Formats: sequence, C-alpha cells, structure tokens
Amino acid sequence: MTERMRELTDKLITGHSLEENEYRELICLRDEESALILQKEAVRLRKKFYGDKVFIRGLIEVSNICKNDCYYCGIRKSNRLCDRYRLTKEETLSCCRDGYALGFRTFVMQGGEDGAFSDEFLCDVIREIKVLYPDCAVTLSLGERSRKSYEKLYEAGADRYLLRHETADSEHYARLHPKNLTLGNRMECLRNLKEIGFQTGCGFMVGSPFQTSECLAKDLKFIEDFKPDMVGTGPFIPHKDTPFRDYPAGSTELTCFLLSVIRIIHPPVLLPSTTALGSLEKGGREKGIIHGANVIMPNLSPTDVRSKYMLYNNKLSTGAESAQKLEELKKLIRGIGYEIVYERGDFMNAECKMQNAE
Ligand code: 5AD
Repeated sequence: MTERMRELTDKLITGHSLEENEYRELICLRDEESALILQKEAVRLRKKFYGDKVFIRGLIEVSNICKNDCYYCGIRKSNRLCDRYRLTKEETLSCCRDGYALGFRTFVMQGGEDGAFSDEFLCDVIREIKVLYPDCAVTLSLGERSRKSYEKLYEAGADRYLLRHETADSEHYARLHPKNLTLGNRMECLRNLKEIGFQTGCGFMVGSPFQTSECLAKDLKFIEDFKPDMVGTGPFIPHKDTPFRDYPAGSTELTCFLLSVIRIIHPPVLLPSTTALGSLEKGGREKGIIHGANVIMPNLSPTDVRSKYMLYNNKLSTGAESAQKLEELKKLIRGIGYEIVYERGDFMNAECKMQNAE
C-alpha cells in the first residue's frame, strides 16, 4: 500500500468523508492491503449498528412493462424479445401471503415504469397489504413519478422507495439513457421521496459502460451528501438484447470494495448484497455481506414470471436467492458468521443507533 493510500484510508475511517478527487484516488490506488483495511472497518461498523443480523426483503417483480429505453436494461421498451407481463392485485397479494408465511416482514414491489400502474391501482394494493399485514413494511421500486403521486403512495402506507440514481455524473447518465431521461429529474425524484418521508434508497451499477473513476467518485460524494437510508449497488451485467450486449460485466472485486467504502461513509445505511452480485459468481452475495452489506432480497415473484424479469442475462432466481429456499440461504449466511432475521429491519438514524448501542 502506498503512503498516499494510507493517508486516504485513515482520513475516510476517521472522518467518514473525502473530497471527490480523493474518492477517485482511493479507487485508483486500491490494492489488496487497503481493501482489507476498509473491509475490516466496514464490518466493524455494520456490527456496531446491526450486530450479525442480515435483513431479508421479499422481492415481488410486479411488471416488466416499461416505457423507458435505458440502454443497459433487458426490459427496455425496444426489446421486442421480452415477453411482457403484469401481476394483478390478487397475484401480488398472493405473493405477500406466501412471503408472510415464509417469515418476510418487508415486501418490495419492483417493476418497470408501467403506465397501467395508476396511483389509484397502486394505492389500493398498498392499502390492502397494510390491512392484511400491518406488521410489514412496503417498499416500492417503480421508477420516476410525480411528487403528487409519491405523496399519494406514501399516504396509502408505503414505507420505503428505491430509486437508483444509476450514475451521479450527468454526461455518463446521458450515455446510459435516451435524451428524455435526465440526471436532474432523477435527483429531483430522490429529493421529493426523502422530503415526503419515505426511507429512500439510491444506488448505481458498478462497471457500467463508459463509467470512470471520476463517475464513481461522484457517486460516493453524492451518497455522502444525500445520506440515503438505503443504497443498492451491484455490478453491471450485459443483456444480449440491449445496445450494451458487447460490454463486459462489472467486477465482484470493485463492487465489494465500494460496498465497504459506502458502509464507512454512511455507517447506518441499509446496504443490500444484490442479486446481480450473486449472479456474477458463485458465492458473490456472501462476499457482499462480508464486505459490509446487511440486506438480502430473495425473489418472491410467481415462479412463471421470474425468467421474464430479465434485467441482465444469467440472473439467478431459483436457488438460494429464491424466497422459497430460505433455509438454504440461512445456512449459507450462517456459514459466513451472520444470521438471517425476520424483522422489518428499518433504517434508524445514527444518533438513535448510538444510544441503542450504549
Ligand atoms: N446489469 C445490472 N443491473 C442492471 N439494472 C438494470 N439493468 C441492469 C444490468 N444490465 C439495475 C438498474 C436498476 C435496477 C432495478 O436494476 O440499476 O435501477
């Protein structure tokens, strides 16, 4: 490890903050030794806030119909080969019923930006889930909507909202998305969600095409400033029916390094070890956990639609990442010294957590 890297890791660990340019250096100068130091600190912090607990969320992929045409995504509008589906209210509730019986206390409704998801429809589903399962949290991951719409969804009882910012560099954003999608609008949505009161999650892909260390430095600085309750970060994985089919996947190593850095920047953050990380290599999801992640989102979608919700190729959906194989997942997680717990697993702010720890 270089002397400079020693300075940077020390500064990050003591101050939970670096200048944007220092984040860039941290990424460029990383080596095994410095990664290990940051991993240890990330694990120490996650244990201080969450002990050895790993929270689980039941992921319900409610629709793969999308009006957007993001160049990286397998369910983009232009992909004619994608077999489209949308779950009915009853089908979604049936996923929740199964999930509740399995022990899940958070349901994540994730889907493309499907025009059929009116506020009325979504609010009706959310209210019903909350009546049937008042002890559960509802997380939404349904893309960009108006402030008014977010307000209605919050009033209907949704607790959390995931909206990855995808990249905090506006030029990079423009290379991943068609013109009608802008970083400015994305950020406005995130600010709205937070102001309304949602536990809010942002996030980005690691190794997406045209991504540079400058882009990643901006992502980290944004996380430091925005202080999201959740951060979803996984490797980019190409999908064969998208414009990015020929680009290489992101690396497990860099994803894990960044998970550790994110944990140190914002210690109480809810940090999933993503399906994409698990899909890239065997044991990838466990690697995420030992680098500071504390959330896993097993798949609760009806089995017949799982293969249709293909954001990228080779996405895992039937092994231990399937909600039905929770016992298998519990063993894997126990094997690395952590414990799956059946709690809602809400974000608590740092001060509150500090008091609890005392
Ligand atoms: N590889 C990895 N992640 C992807 N996502 C979309 N397409 C891909 C891909 N090809 C991620 C995006 C989105 C989330 C739901 O899935 O970051 O926000």
